[in-house]
Amino acid sequence: MIITCEKCGKRYKLDVSSINTPRVKVRCAHCNHGFTVRNEPERESPAPLDRPTPYRHAVFAISNQKGGVAKTSTCLNLGMSLALLDKKVLLIDFDVQANLTISLGFSSRAQSFFDVLYAGSETLSDYIRETRFPGLHLLPSNSRMALLTKYYMYRPGFETLLRNRLQQVVDQYDFILIDTPPALGFCTLNALMAADQVLIPTPCEYLSMHGIHRIEDIIHFVRRKSGHDIDYHILVSMHNRRSTASEVIHRKIREMFGNRVLGTVIEHDEKMKESQIVHLPVWEYDRTSPSARQFMQLARELAAAAGGNAQQRE
Ligand SMILES: Nc1ncnc2c1ncn2[C@@H]1O[C@H](COP(=O)(O)OP(=O)(O)OP(=O)(O)O)[C@@H](O)[C@H]1O
Ligand SMILES: [Mg+2]
Repeated sequence: MIITCEKCGKRYKLDVSSINTPRVKVRCAHCNHGFTVRNEPERESPAPLDRPTPYRHAVFAISNQKGGVAKTSTCLNLGMSLALLDKKVLLIDFDVQANLTISLGFSSRAQSFFDVLYAGSETLSDYIRETRFPGLHLLPSNSRMALLTKYYMYRPGFETLLRNRLQQVVDQYDFILIDTPPALGFCTLNALMAADQVLIPTPCEYLSMHGIHRIEDIIHFVRRKSGHDIDYHILVSMHNRRSTASEVIHRKIREMFGNRVLGTVIEHDEKMKESQIVHLPVWEYDRTSPSARQFMQLARELAAAAGGNAQQRE
């Protein structure tokens, strides 16, 4: 059985063949954190995504149960910046609010993942749309996404419906970013099962730590229940350096979560709100703005982690 330290994320192979108790107490050899894991028989896991190297096609779910923490803004602006670094990027709008779809100028009539399933299609290609930005594609959302729970949730294997369909297109992209709603349900579960990384945007506010712990719990649950190997990173978003309270919480987040916190910080920037009004990524709206530069820095950080070169397109 593969277990993951709840604190530092280090993974171990644990031989439980001679252990009969339902729970096993373990201690991490790396950070000395003691925790309990469930001794469950290994379940048959869904078909793995076929990737030549772990980061060749990085699939990120952008997730946080807390609302309004910049999940959609991160998806749009990180996607745009990666595309400017000549990466092929697919954005998946997996939120019935369809904010990402609207931000990219598509109408609410665009077909969504619900329409993929409803048509009985096994592939996403016919539903993926080119955006007006080179290298940036979108699988839109629409209001019918609200029916996914009613029609498909609780069917056996419902949580891998996206993952299975991504397999046919995953080779065509360097990065796939999935925007998720601020709730655990069909969309978030499918996104987590399809992703190999979770990016957790987090403002430095009083309840942020609680939000991170909640999504961590969900990630551990997904790992335990399905054996799906998923890693996560925290992105400090909408940060206000002039606020002492924000700085204190920022320090605390770095202390608690160590190198899980990405080096790039996205600061609070009015240009982000303005760019949203005109349906543009902030880079297109004002590339000299702090947030445009910070999203480009974030794209470079992730592209470097993916082992790719990060030359920006003119
Ligand atoms: N760096 C930033 N500086 C200032 N405002 C920002 C920044 N990032 C996002 N915002 C604003 O914060 C608001 C919430 O952002 P966004 O919609 O991306 O959050 P969300 O987590 O996707 O929300 P939801 O949980 O409803 O899906 C938006 O008005 C957006 O313009
Ligand atoms: Mg959103």
